[in-house]
Amino acid sequence: MNVLVVGASGKTGRHIIPLLKAAGHTPRAMIRNFDQRPEMEALGAECVAGDLEKPLGYAVRGNWTVMMAAGSGSKTPPEKTVEVDFHGVLSLIETSERMNVRRFIMLSSMNTDDPETGPEKLRHYLNAKAGADARLRQSLMNWTIVRPGYLHDEPSHEMLEIAPSLGPVDENTRISREDVAKVMVACMAHDNTVNKTFDIIDGKTPLKEALESI
Ligand SMILES: NC(=O)c1ccc[n+]([C@@H]2O[C@H](COP(=O)([O-])OP(=O)(O)OC[C@H]3O[C@@H](n4cnc5c(N)ncnc54)[C@H](OP(=O)(O)O)[C@@H]3O)[C@@H](O)[C@H]2O)c1
Repeated sequence: MNVLVVGASGKTGRHIIPLLKAAGHTPRAMIRNFDQRPEMEALGAECVAGDLEKPLGYAVRGNWTVMMAAGSGSKTPPEKTVEVDFHGVLSLIETSERMNVRRFIMLSSMNTDDPETGPEKLRHYLNAKAGADARLRQSLMNWTIVRPGYLHDEPSHEMLEIAPSLGPVDENTRISREDVAKVMVACMAHDNTVNKTFDIIDGKTPLKEALESI
């Protein structure tokens, strides 16, 4: 199955590609800088040009699933956050609908239920993510919204805490990017995650068991 990974060159996206390949899928890395092509191909992806701030039809066409793991990053000005994380992701959702994508797996964030209770410096970002999530919930695609706490780069332990909401994000609500990637890829094989939104952080429940409890 062709799976478009948006944000493939990012720290989480790089974990997603080999996991998709190992699960028997054809990962397609959407990249905006073709210098990244050799690295993406070495991970096992085909490459397609695409930028969330530009028309996306060419990149999205022919994919059964879209995995959204891109983000404007914490160092960009608020206008850029709105442009990429809200308008860009809205455009990705609407293009996916037009191109008959069946499954859309969104990497969102904890605290998007109630951005006003989040850290002040993150509120514009949480609002942008919340707006994109709300649009995805109106979609007829089979969607899943995965909402991690703060991401870290320690190795995966495949042990999670998972719930529809785990409350406000803080320094104790962390999760490995590798585990986030594993959850996103595992969602494809877990139909119980269709049309669900859930938070995830490092925890004590084995990943498969945690996902099955949703
Ligand atoms: N950091 C956290 O603690 C945290 C917590 C919760 C959720 N999240 C979310 O998790 C996701 C992944 O985070 P991460 O830290 O793994 O990502 P990252 O390493 O910052 O990578 C971001 C990715 O997004 C891509 N990107 C940025 N602007 C783009 C655009 N206009 N069009 C297409 N692609 C674009 C980048 O591509 P280039 O290589 O071309 O720049 C890169 O592949 C993001 O959605 C983020 O909001 C993060």
